[in-house]
Formats: sequence, C-alpha cells, structure tokens
Amino acid sequence: MADITYTTTQTGTPVTSDEFSLTTGSDGVTALHDRYLVEKLASFNRERVPERNPHAKGGGAFGTFTVTEDVSKYTRAAVFQPGSEAEVLLRFSSVAGEQGSPDTWRDVRGFALRFYTSEGNLDVVGNNTPVFFLRDAMKFPDFIHSQKRTGAAALRNADMQWDFWTLSPESAHQVTYLMGDRGLSQSWRHLNGYGSHTYQWVNAEGERFWIQYHFVSKQGVVPLSSEDAERIAGEDADYYRRDLFEAIERGENPTWEVHVQVMPYEDAKTYRFNPFDMTKVWPFADYPRIKVGEFTLNRNPQNFFAEIEQAAFSPGNQVPGTGISPDKMLMARVFSYPDAQRYRIGTNYNQLPVNQPHAAPVFNYMHEGNMQYHFNPAGTPVHATNSFGYPHADAERGTEATWETDGALVRSAYTLHSEDDDFGQASTLYNDVFDDGEKDRFHATLAGQYQGLTVDAVKERFFWYWGQVDEKIVAGIKAKLGA
Ligand code: HEM
Repeated sequence: MADITYTTTQTGTPVTSDEFSLTTGSDGVTALHDRYLVEKLASFNRERVPERNPHAKGGGAFGTFTVTEDVSKYTRAAVFQPGSEAEVLLRFSSVAGEQGSPDTWRDVRGFALRFYTSEGNLDVVGNNTPVFFLRDAMKFPDFIHSQKRTGAAALRNADMQWDFWTLSPESAHQVTYLMGDRGLSQSWRHLNGYGSHTYQWVNAEGERFWIQYHFVSKQGVVPLSSEDAERIAGEDADYYRRDLFEAIERGENPTWEVHVQVMPYEDAKTYRFNPFDMTKVWPFADYPRIKVGEFTLNRNPQNFFAEIEQAAFSPGNQVPGTGISPDKMLMARVFSYPDAQRYRIGTNYNQLPVNQPHAAPVFNYMHEGNMQYHFNPAGTPVHATNSFGYPHADAERGTEATWETDGALVRSAYTLHSEDDDFGQASTLYNDVFDDGEKDRFHATLAGQYQGLTVDAVKERFFWYWGQVDEKIVAGIKAKLGA
C-alpha cells in the first residue's frame, strides 16, 4: 500500500474527484482548465513507448549470480572472481512477434542477461541457440523484415521467410535448430541461454582469451510439441510470461549454471572454423565447457513497464576483463542497441533505475538532454580533463578488448578456415545430435512449413537448401508430404 491516503496531481496537489470532470452544471460542457482531467488524459496518451524492434514480446525477473569456481586465470573481471556475488536481470523474449503475440509461436528465444557488477553493468544479450542466422550485420534488417510482416497486407508470410533463408545459406545451422525440438520449449525456465558470439576475456596479467558463454538450465531443456504449442497459442498468449512470474511467486526459483568455452588467443588464427563466424559452434571436443558459477531468478519485477519494458541491454556493456571480438555482427550490435534505446526510451535511458549500475558509481562529464535526472554536485567542472582534482580516466582500472588488424577497406566475406562452409555443422546437428524421434518431428515441422509456400522458386530452393544439409531430410519431408 502507498503511504498516502489521497490522490494528487503530478505536482502533488490533492485532487477533488477521481470520477467527475469539471463541467458547467451537471449536464454542461467540460472546462479546459480542469487541469487534472487534462493531465490524466495527456499522461494516458503517452503511456506506450515504441516496442522493441525486434524482440518485442518478453518477460523477465531479477536474481543472484554466485561464482562457485576459480576462473581468475582467464579474466580479471571482479564479477567472475572466486566467491563473488552479483544481482542479475534476465529478460526472455521471442524475436519476430509483436507485444501481444503468442509466446508459443515457434521462434528463437532471446536470453538477455545483465550482471550489475562492482565495475559497471555487464550485459550478455544472447539467445537460446549458440549460433545465429547470419554472419554480417548488413543483412540483419532484411532478415527481420522477412520474419515480420508484408508491406500491403501486413501479414506474416512463409514465402518471404523461406525466400530469405534459402537465399542466405549461412542460416542453415540456426534454422535446423529452430525447426528441431529446441525451436519450442516447455517454458522459458526450460531452455539454455548462449552468448552466441565469441567474446574476449582478459586476465590480470593482460593475457587474452576468446570465450563463449553457455547458460545451462538446471530445470533441463524440455521441448514442447508443435501441436501443444499451437493449442496453447490460442488458449493463453502469455503462457511463458505467466509461467515465469507464477513460478517465482511460488518460490520455485529457476537456476542456470554459467559456463564458458575458452580458446587460447592464438588458436583463433588457425582453428578449423573461423571463431568469429557466429553461424558456427566450437565443438566441446575442441573446447570443453568450464563452469564459472550459477544464478537463480528469485524476484519478480515490481512494475513490468519500468523494469522490463524500459530495460535497455547492450552487447557493448562490458567490464574490465571482458570485451567483444572481431565478430562483424557483434561490432554492429554495439552501435545498434544504444541507438535503438535513445529512440525507444529517450536520451537519458541509462539514468533509469533498471539501467543504472546498481553496484558501481557513475561519473563523467556528459550532461543534460531530455529527462536529465542525474547530475554532478554543484561546483563540479563540466569538462575533462580539468585541473581541479575531479575524476579522470584511469587506464589501469579499465581494460579494452584488443586485437591486431590491418588491411585495405573492403566489403567482403570472412576469411574461410579449413572446415568452414554453410552446411557442415547443420548436417552434424541433424545426423549426430538429433535422435530418430527428433528427426521425424523435424521432417514433420518442415513439411508443415513447405505447405505454407506458394512461390515455385522458393519451393524449389527449399528442397535444394535441405538437400545441401542432407538428402535424408528431403526424403523425410517428401515422405511426410506424401503421407
Ligand atoms: C547485427 C545484428 C543485430 C542487430 C542490428 C540487432 C538489433 C537489435 C535491436 C535494435 C534490438 C532492440 C533493442 C531495444 O530496443 O532495447 C534487439 C533486441 C534483441 N536482440 Fe538483437 N540484433 C542483432 C543480432 C542479434 C543476435 C545475434 C542476438 C543473439 C545472439 C540478438 C539478441 C537480441 C535480444 C535477446 C534482444 C532483446 C533484448 C531485451 O530483452 O531487451 N540480436 N536487437
């Protein structure tokens, strides 16, 4: 309950009615100077901010991360030192659907994890898949357009989805994931998260490593059948959002183990797959998972809008001892997220309670702009560097991810490593990871997708694409279609 018993205007004046407008007599016209009515309607008209494009539909919760192992030889980040604890925020989402879209539509799930560390916020903005559809950011807007809606009818459209995917064969690995059992899960609690990109860790000696984050669900990875997902989409569009919120209210707090795969810095040059190409995984036989700790979600938001809708994650939010890599997708994302958030939320979005660091101070000489809330104490200089003893950059305290680069400016694909191609890892996933039951369900899902296609060129390329992964898939789809 609020510690006030009466309602007020936004500026604290007690109001005289929550129900009646000010009118000339009981049946007369409404007075424009009814300041409370005008303020209330104006506030209502501004309640929405633009939804995220993409990842509009989601939900999330707060929790606690604890380091249980010693990975200090790989990173100096305070948050990953033995015994360290940090508050976390995790937002799950689907990619293509809008705010009101059903949670159980088959889609990749966003897994955006923030660590509120003593050295600033660290965000790992990943998905429930260790790979992605693309390897160059130039294609990202086209990809999202193809998954969302057509121009005139504003309908989702299988032809354009498959047109894009089959013209972008680097998508095959991720599409195999998506159309397999991992494309639909029992709940957000029952999926793994991945950083998906290669990131960099730097230890106290300045030694660099390439790493991949894996967040392994202790609830298990539990699939949901296509039939159940379709039924639930009609019955309860908020199925996942409800499940997470209610589980935490019941005290059934979900937990994920935090692991990393670690690649020595020099290996990147000669590893059989280009480690910065995010359509590829690093097989565990090459780089096993190393446990770091675990986190548990244990606190629902007090207010969905303030704490989840206005949460602004960014892959650029790194801390000393962590950093990005020369993955072309990742480098573009570092620009794109804050740009989206300045538009979606506002210039000073990082001053909102959910986005401020909770365990580290903020000090710099940026100021003003819409909705400035935080300001430096009176008398603080407005410029850096200054000769008045105020804070200045400390290169020892911060670290940057660094790597060597040289060459002419070009528009070109990544350098291929010895085993790089578009279809090999998709084929391994199908042949070596899917069991017979999953293969059968995968063929059925693809047959269902094929039935949504109307354009002959796309239909032809659909079979070509799956034939490149494995001809057995084509035979499996055709058998389902025949049946
Ligand atoms: C160049 C490629 C990409 C671009 C330009 C891009 C851009 C965006 C933008 C603009 C948003 C909305 C942010 C906001 O309004 O707060 C977003 C959300 C998101 N993206 Fe990406 N994205 C890209 C690739 C990826 C990849 C590869 C992943 C996962 C591995 C990913 C995961 C997410 C997630 C999880 C969210 C939702 C974050 C949240 O819960 O607030 N994106 N993306």
